[in-house]
Amino acid sequence: MSATVRQLTKDDYGAAEHIIKTSFSQKLGIPDPDLFFSGGSLLGRFLMDPEGVFGAEENGELVGVNLATTWGSVGYFGPLAVSPSHQGQGVAQQLLMPVMSLFRKRNVSHSGLFTFPESAQHIHLYRKFGFMPRFLTAIMSKNLDSAPSKEVRVWRYSGFKDVEQSDFRDSARELTNDIYPGLDLQKEICAVEELEMGDTIFIGSDALDGFAICHYGEGSEAKSGSMYIKFAAARMCANSNVLFNSLLMACESTARAAGVGKIAAGISTARDAGFDCMLSAGFKTDYLGVYMHKPNEQGFCRPDVFAIDDWR
Ligand SMILES: CC(C)(COP(=O)(O)OP(=O)(O)OC[C@H]1O[C@@H](n2cnc3c(N)ncnc32)[C@H](O)[C@@H]1OP(=O)(O)O)[C@@H](O)C(=O)NCCC(=O)NCCS
Repeated sequence: MSATVRQLTKDDYGAAEHIIKTSFSQKLGIPDPDLFFSGGSLLGRFLMDPEGVFGAEENGELVGVNLATTWGSVGYFGPLAVSPSHQGQGVAQQLLMPVMSLFRKRNVSHSGLFTFPESAQHIHLYRKFGFMPRFLTAIMSKNLDSAPSKEVRVWRYSGFKDVEQSDFRDSARELTNDIYPGLDLQKEICAVEELEMGDTIFIGSDALDGFAICHYGEGSEAKSGSMYIKFAAARMCANSNVLFNSLLMACESTARAAGVGKIAAGISTARDAGFDCMLSAGFKTDYLGVYMHKPNEQGFCRPDVFAIDDWR
């Protein structure tokens, strides 16, 4: 039977979350679905960009969900999940079609996803839509059990007045545009502020040297007791690595101030110097996924880019 695909609203969140938890916990062998993504919430995605939230229904029952995100010219989707009882019937492929249309409508020039590198099924599924496997992405974390090596001054977006916030977003867009033309995180910055999911922090005095969109607290994408770096990037310049190290320290200060004991963040290993910085800063790899890109180009997964993201 063919499912009906429609846009979901925040009222569908509970059912969508149930599908995500049951399907992923089955795939990962986690006995209790509630332990998957424990304490984290994806409701912010439903509120931030309702046009990118898709569900598949059969007989009025939600059986699959796919969340698309666009950051200006860059788009990705996930989590994509189908109820265990409805897998293998083409539902995922139906849920990919509206995402491809959305990316076209929004003039996305580089799109991708994060998936299980060892799964022939996943690689096959996404290849059918033109995505090709590339570098591994490391999902990393750092426990904040020892004293900070260095305290750094952290500037916060939430501390700005409206006009300053607007100026900051312009500077952030210029910084990301230098990394990849059209890459724009403004939507994420605004969502964190409006939905009180954490804060965007930054470093630099005369120029913006780097910023990090940090999720923490209830309703955010951070798991219980941790801070999740949704996106971070250092300005493109000869000493981006130095700026990136300062940004990591600023993130650590932010996590400590938020009262959490752990930082979670993902980075493409194609950004090998940035990956090295994170290892040197005490981050450890918890597990690896693979990015698949369409077109099969590097986008902003390049050695000269010092940026954190993981497209989960
Ligand atoms: C991955 C998932 C979304 C797929 O959903 P689905 O509705 O079962 O997928 P579809 O039926 O649309 O397509 C699956 C495709 O993989 C193929 N496939 C299945 N097992 C395969 C294998 N071992 N090797 C190669 N291809 C395989 C199927 O034949 C089908 O392709 P086809 O139409 O060309 O024959 C679903 O299994 C799921 O929710 N899994 C748990 C969560 C998850 O892993 N989400 C994705 C994270 S990136």
